[in-house]
Amino acid sequence: MNHENADSRPDGRPDRVRDCLALALDVDDLVAATRLARSLVGHFRVAKVGLELYTAAGPEAVGALADLGYDVFCDLKLHDIPTTVARAARVAGELGVSYLTAHAAGGAEMLRAGAEGLAAGASGPAGLLAVTVLTSEAQAAATRDRVAQRMELAAEAGAAGVVCAAPDLTATRHVRPELLRAVPGIRLPDDSLDDQRRVASPVQALAAGADLLVVGRPVTRAEDPVEAAERLHDSLRQQDPETAT
Ligand code: C5P
Repeated sequence: MNHENADSRPDGRPDRVRDCLALALDVDDLVAATRLARSLVGHFRVAKVGLELYTAAGPEAVGALADLGYDVFCDLKLHDIPTTVARAARVAGELGVSYLTAHAAGGAEMLRAGAEGLAAGASGPAGLLAVTVLTSEAQAAATRDRVAQRMELAAEAGAAGVVCAAPDLTATRHVRPELLRAVPGIRLPDDSLDDQRRVASPVQALAAGADLLVVGRPVTRAEDPVEAAERLHDSLRQQDPETAT
């Protein structure tokens, strides 16, 4: 994955807080996305391009963010026949994405096709992330078995990780621990929930087993995004003596 830029602190130590943060650039304009991304590259290792930005700016968005030094998370949530997913994933790999999402609901054959297509197209490390259950369809405890089943499916199909909500992490901690857990719905206590229902603080999510925290509006819609990102870092550094300044 791309670590050319800003992956260490000014004192040369690795920035473990930055490494576990992904910035969700849910905007419809590449100029706005690039402006935000440029100002926040010191705080986030990964930039997530969702359906909105991808529909607006497509491969150009991936290239622009990679050029800024980000590992690009292409959140296309693919769900189609295996051949189509494999071919799309291959193209995403060629574009230089580090993470690509597909719906676990598409089944093992589709996930495997996506993982293999991505690997075939990528010239560096790249991993398929399986979306377990959308938060919009999640009914708390009733979904946990399904999340666990889909984690098993994802691992068997060769996915590198999963996307899941923070409240499902603890109950599934021992399921395929080798999978990277990417977790949206991250909020500090004073943040607005927006439309997120299943949230956790950054510290809670990491303690429950998250590897990559996906943060969007609390930073991107803040009056001062850099200050909001700084608060996010502070909240994590306070909990981690290795990263405390
Ligand atoms: O809420 P926030 O802007 O931090 O969202 C970050 C990401 O969380 C979004 O890009 C989307 O992928 C995901 N999301 C979610 N459930 C919602 C809203 C957003 O999982 N209800």
